[in-house]
Amino acid sequence: MLTVALPKGRIAQETLDIFETIFDKKFIFDDRKLILDVDNFRFLLVRNQDVPAYVYHQAADIGVVGLDVLEEKEFDLLRLLDLKIGRCRVCVGMKNEDTLDYNLPDIKIATKMVNITKNYFSKKAMAVEVIKLYGSIELAPLVGLSDAIVDIVETGTTMKQNGLKVVETIMESSAHLIANKNSFIEKKEEILSLYHKIEKYI
Ligand code: PRP
Repeated sequence: MLTVALPKGRIAQETLDIFETIFDKKFIFDDRKLILDVDNFRFLLVRNQDVPAYVYHQAADIGVVGLDVLEEKEFDLLRLLDLKIGRCRVCVGMKNEDTLDYNLPDIKIATKMVNITKNYFSKKAMAVEVIKLYGSIELAPLVGLSDAIVDIVETGTTMKQNGLKVVETIMESSAHLIANKNSFIEKKEEILSLYHKIEKYI
């Protein structure tokens, strides 16, 4: 039995589609249910940012999660495979009329991704004040809460619609298959068999 943590939403659907194709079976969650048992798999629907915690604490053996979340959470997990879905970028954004001046002291950056932001700007030897938000990040510079943001850009529509532009790209991201290190030892054959099937599919 393998327990798989999936991030609610489109990536969960696309991952279940991969499973449906590989195993030629239906993998469909009942309305509002968070657990789905099919054959030797148990799927858990969790929040995107919670996938690493479920896998790290072995509540799930494996999981699917964006590289951006893995970088942000800094858990010790095995990264098995790039699923090449859920592609996006982590970017620094500013108002269209603004520019990022590295010489300015104490630039304020609003973000959900505090660790990625701190690591990025400290590598550039730039002192920034990070303001942690939980969503609607694009609003922050519009109302003077911050000078810039660090956020996910997928289509770019949200930034564009709010008069913001990308000034720098910090990283490219896509959904990765991850595993708990102990699970990988205890259930090596099961995990590797699934890994090879998915790898072939991709
Ligand atoms: C993400 C991100 C941006 C948006 C970018 O938010 O924080 O707001 O998507 O997508 P786009 O470039 O295609 O417009 P999400 O929808 O995940 O909501 P959240 O802010 O609640 O995390």
